[in-house]
Parts: sequence; structure tokens; C-alpha cells
Amino acid sequence: MDRRDLVRSLRLVGSRNGWPAVRAAWRRRRIDARDLPARGAERARVPGAAYSAEPLPGGGVVRFAQSSLRVRVAVGGAVFCGWDGAAPEPSYALAGECPEADTRAVLEPDKDGWRVVSERITVVVFRHGAVEFRTPGGVPLRRELPPRWWDGSGRVSRWVQRARTPADAVVFGLGGRASGPRLATGAYRLWNTDPCAPFGPGDDPLYITMPVQFVVADGGCHLVFHDNTWDGWVCLRDGEEGAGSGHDQPGGCEVRFEGGPLRYWVMAGSPGRVLGTWTALTGRPALPPRWALGYQHARWGFGSAQEVRRVAAGYRERGMPVSALHLDIDHFDGHRVFTVDREAFPELPLLAEELREDGIQLVSIVDPAVKAEPGSAVYDSGTAADAFVRDALGQVVRGLVWPGETVFPDFTEPRVRRWWGGLYAERLEQGFAGFWHDMNEPTSFTVFARYGESTLPDSARHGMEGRGGDHREAHNVYGLAMARAGYEALRELRPDRRPFLFSRSGWAGMQRYGGTWSGDVATGWPGLRASLALVLGLGLCGVPYSGPDVGGFHAMPSPELYVRWWQLSAYLPFFRTHSAIEGGRREPWEFGPQAEECVRVALAERVRLLPYLYTLAHLAQRTGAPYVRPLWWHDPEDRRLRACGDAFLLGDALLVAPVVEQGATTRTVRLPPGRWYDAATGAVHRGPGQVLLAAPLDRTPVLVRAGAVLPVAVEDGIGLEVWAPAAGQSGEGVLISDEGDGWDQPRVERFASRWRDGAVVVEREGADEVGHPVRVRGLAHNPS
Ligand code: NOJ
Repeated sequence: MDRRDLVRSLRLVGSRNGWPAVRAAWRRRRIDARDLPARGAERARVPGAAYSAEPLPGGGVVRFAQSSLRVRVAVGGAVFCGWDGAAPEPSYALAGECPEADTRAVLEPDKDGWRVVSERITVVVFRHGAVEFRTPGGVPLRRELPPRWWDGSGRVSRWVQRARTPADAVVFGLGGRASGPRLATGAYRLWNTDPCAPFGPGDDPLYITMPVQFVVADGGCHLVFHDNTWDGWVCLRDGEEGAGSGHDQPGGCEVRFEGGPLRYWVMAGSPGRVLGTWTALTGRPALPPRWALGYQHARWGFGSAQEVRRVAAGYRERGMPVSALHLDIDHFDGHRVFTVDREAFPELPLLAEELREDGIQLVSIVDPAVKAEPGSAVYDSGTAADAFVRDALGQVVRGLVWPGETVFPDFTEPRVRRWWGGLYAERLEQGFAGFWHDMNEPTSFTVFARYGESTLPDSARHGMEGRGGDHREAHNVYGLAMARAGYEALRELRPDRRPFLFSRSGWAGMQRYGGTWSGDVATGWPGLRASLALVLGLGLCGVPYSGPDVGGFHAMPSPELYVRWWQLSAYLPFFRTHSAIEGGRREPWEFGPQAEECVRVALAERVRLLPYLYTLAHLAQRTGAPYVRPLWWHDPEDRRLRACGDAFLLGDALLVAPVVEQGATTRTVRLPPGRWYDAATGAVHRGPGQVLLAAPLDRTPVLVRAGAVLPVAVEDGIGLEVWAPAAGQSGEGVLISDEGDGWDQPRVERFASRWRDGAVVVEREGADEVGHPVRVRGLAHNPS
């Protein structure tokens, strides 16, 4: 047991839930000891030699002495590889049906074995089962070595597959990893985990793990996705880390799973193209309503409607717009989900209406665990619907969460999703407009690692869409399936509005239903850095809408840390302060007048940029491109940009370099190629290169790409802020706007900027008039 585990366990034992947690953990262990199939003897296997190959639509199948490999290129360019007869479906990741095979791609003999040539990737299958993926120009992207299985009793085989990547390859992704965005050499577990304590960069895994690797190398980018929900590990070796040390060796990775199919998808191209292909396969990100891009305030422990009103009034009096207030579990009756503490929150619908009139939406937390309490409505209706997870003997599995002893809906069962979804009607009646899914790894409190993990027993049974399975297979998709239940219900219950939900846990494809947030990030400078790592990494896994608890979750930040956290988050999609019940307040006026002033400046800029952010939300929904992108987005071959994890591009136009070091008042910024303006001073910088920028406490260094046409809020609508293009160059921008909610087609306006007769002009594609007030900036530095 490490120190962290001990501290966590002692905290739990010491808390109100201490002894029940011991009992719950012991029960979990006993159920598994009784019901988990013994591993028994295993037989190791490799594919052996290939003996035949058969072309099939999109590729073909190669048969080996002890396995077979199906290669299938799908329309859109993603390549599927399935060993041992594994097919792309069923899959929790795919959105709808698997795309058709691209019939132009055909398996044909090659000097090394066979190959399938497609538009973006050439796949070579070697005679002993290695598989290489190359760019159309023949540059290797990755080479998978022959896999190895350990066939056990029943249908469960463990397996491992090693891959080599180019020596300069670096890896991002694997879900939400606090140590990223670039993932260093090391082992990363694939098992959604509540750390049950505030986390920092050293804590892994966290709430969202995904077998999604975004690999960037000089020769090209690719994404590889192992479509397997079981517990697993990815061990990475970063080739570049060893570079120059005399130990040059290719980068590599080893993927291991405790069961489940050996099947994976590979897609290649520019970062934008890769994410386009990935989100075409797994679903385009849900478009949040416009209010969800405003500033939001949450608190575990508002405690009463008066306190909610007090906070709302505080913002109103100071002229600081807040778009949503989030109610945590303390507004429930005894922490029971889908209930209201009517003493502390009498007439919740009235409060919601009052706030709505002020432009503030109410968001409700929703935990999956239901208090095991006959006589309470949710428990009784769930019991009648046979909704709760059972063990192998058919007993409902009990765990321990905030309300005490609890049971857990089985979201992998469609009828359970429908039952659960119906419960959101109560939330809508209370006046809630958005939903915050929490504790859905799922978490059930435990003590001491030797009593097992803080979740359901491995042997617990799940419906798995009618196929049947146990928690080893269902665990990682529990949060994803809960998000589906919520999303589909909201589409039905309120068909004219776009659902807004975000979920602590999830898996590949979760973006179809909504976003996520950091979870309980530790208050401190490392936590601030981890916040950005999470947002960048998740974006590269196809989940563009996320953000941290501003100020950190568990303790009171210093005014300086609070301000810097605000400044970073003002440029992130999900912008929300939140804190634990013992973590202190997060209202800006609690941190002194200087901090309040700095926050006011950051908030004003957020409000000004809303049309741009909303355009980015639409673009994410159309193309999969995240709002927040790594600096190498347009220049993946630039190794110095790949190494930079503390600055980011917000869309194409802005480069944001937040201050993430205590006491810093300047910071160096690495620039991608091109001409950049300092948004505060108008000073011009030329990339590629590095510049030192002033970063006093009231300022976040932000650079704007020359030529950018930025839609911004102006007094009576939307204006265009145009940054002069470099001489002889042009620039562009886009504005996508709609009513802020609903399903009507948005309006798309494209703009171009250029120099004409010594002046900067802006034109709107297909129109004589620009239709928006224009402000040209950067002219002082363009003497022409
Ligand atoms: C854990 C969540 O991560 C946190 O945001 C929330 O405040 C607590 N659960 C209580 O609901």
C-alpha cells in the first residue's frame, strides 16, 4: 500500500462512512472470490505462419496457422484490423453502424506477404503476423508485431501486442491524463478510476481512460484505437526521450488487455483530418447550447436557496455575467439522486425561474448510485424495473456512495437506460437546464487497496446490450452508457432543446453525448498545469468540451493561483469554478480587490470572445477539431512545438500562453510559423521561434495570427476584429451563429482579409456587404 492509499483509507475509515466502507469493500472481495471464474491453465499462442489470403470488400482476410486477420478499409479512410475473427461490431465506441467498406481498397500479394493500398494508408501484412501502416509515400507510421494470446478457460483470452513507431514519434491521448499532454515513457492503465482524493500530474489513471493514441511524428500523424473495453495497460516508450543519449531506439508501445477482442482502427493524415475521421467513426461532438460557453459557478455546499441567491446577487451587483449555477449533492434529500431537500431548497422551480430571468441556468448533479431504501421512489421504481446490477447468484450488488448503502443501475441494458432517462423529467420540472454526471466510473467507496478497487465487483453481471457480460468488460463504458441514457432521454423529453450534459467518466465516443470536466483536481500549481494537459489530451481523443474546477477542488487557492486559473480557464471551452465542501469559496470577491479586478478583465474577454468560441463549438461539431489545440496542430513536424505543453491554439486565430508558474510575470512562448500579434500591445512577432512576453498578474499573453478575422461581441451584436495580414498575404475567418439552442440550421459566414491599395479590407464570401462592424488592428506595426 502506498502512502497515498493509506492516507485515503484512513480518511475514509475516520469519516462517517468508515466502517460501512470496510464492510462494502469486504463484501466486494467476497463476491469476486466466489464468482470470478478461476484463471486456470492458459495456453500461449502466436499467429504462426500465414497460409492463405482472401480478398474481401475493403481489404481481405489473411489466415495464419493459429489465427486470422481481417483488414478492412472503411469509407472515410479508417482502417480496421480484427484478429481471431473480431469484427468492428458490436462496439460501444462506434456511432451507429460501422461505415461501409471502401471497395477501392483490395488485398493483394506483396513481396513481404500482402498489402492493402488505400487513399491515406498502405497496410502491409507480413507472413508471420506483423502489420505495418505506411503513408501513401511509403513512410512507416507504425509496425505492429505479431500479437500473443493466452487462451484461458471460457472465451477469455488475455493478449499483448507490441508496436514500433518512428524514433521521433510522440504520443498524446489515452483519455484524460494529468501527466500529459505529451505522454512520457511509462505504463498507463486503461481502467476508469476515481482517485478518491485530489489529483495532480503524478496520479494515473483517472476518471476517463481510452485506448486512443494520437501519435505524431515527422513522417506523419496517426490515431490508433484498440476497440476493447476490458482492463488493460499501454506501456509507452518515447523514442525522442532517448535521442542523443547514445541509446537511440525507435519509439514503441505495448498494449495488453485482460480479455476482449484484439481489434483496432488506424487513421492517418493531418491532425484535423485524423480527428475528422475519428469523430465520423465515433460520433461528432454534441453541440452545447450557447449559454454553456459562458462562465459557470458550482459549489459543493451551497447548502440553501438563500446562499444560491446570495452568490447570484454578488455577481449581478458587480456586473459579472454568470451563465449557470450548479447544484451539487447537498441539494438532494439525504444525498438521494433525483430528490430535493425541500427545507433548504423550498420551491426550487421558482428559484430556477428567478435565475433564468437573470440569464442564469441551473445545472443539476446526477449520481448513478441509488440509495438502497425500500419506500423511496427511485429505488422502488428501479427495483420494479429490475434495473440494478446483480451478482452471478442473482443478488442485487450493493455498494457505498454518498447516500449510504446503494445499488447501481445497469446502463448497458437498453431498457434500464429508458427507465433511468424517464427520471430526468423530475429534474426538468424542478427547472434544471443542464446535467452533471458524477461518480460514474462507477465509484463505490472502499478502504485499503487489498480490499479491491473503489468500484463494483469484477464479477458483477451486466446486460451488455443483450449479450451479457461482467463488470470487467462493462466497467469502462459505465459512464458512457449513463451519458447515453441521459442524452437520449433529454432529446425525447425536451425535443426542441439541445441537451447539455457533462460526465466525469466516459470512454471513446462520449463526445456524442456531451463533455466532461477535470474532476477533483488538486489546488496548487501542479493542478493548474494538469488542467491544461487534460483538456488538450481529451481534445485529441475527440472530446473537445472540457475544463477544470477553477481554483482547484479541495483547498483554498492563493489569490495569485486563483487569478491564473481563471485566466487559463477563460480560454477553455468549459469554464466553471467549483470546490469541495471543505474547499472554501470561489467567488471572485473572496480573493481581494486586486484579484477581483484581474478576474473582471478575464471575464470581460471571455464575454467578448463568445461569438468566436461558439463558432468553434459549431466547428467541433462539424469536423471534430477541438477548440483547444496543441501548438503543433498545423505544424506536426516541428519537434519543438511538439514538446510544448503549456500553451495552446484556441481555434486557428489565437495562441494562448497562460501563466502556470508561481510568481511569474513574463513567459516565453514558442511560436508556430507566421506572423503573430501580441493581442495586448499589438507588437509583431515572427515564428517559428521563441519570444518572451510580459505577463503581469492582470494579463494572459495571447497572440493573434496575422490576417485573422475574429468574430467578437460588440455592443449591439457581433463585430469582426481583423488583424492586418502580412504584406502581400491574406487571411480568413468564419462566423457560425444561431439562436443559441435548438436544431435550426446555423448561419455560416466566411470572411477574407487582404491588403488593397494600402488598406486592409474584409470581404464576406458570396455577399457584397460584410454585414458586421469591422475593426482593423495591428496597423501601427504595418507602416505601409
Ligand atoms: C465528486 C466530484 O468530482 C465533485 O465535483 C463533487 O463536488 C463531489 N463528487 C460531490 O458531489
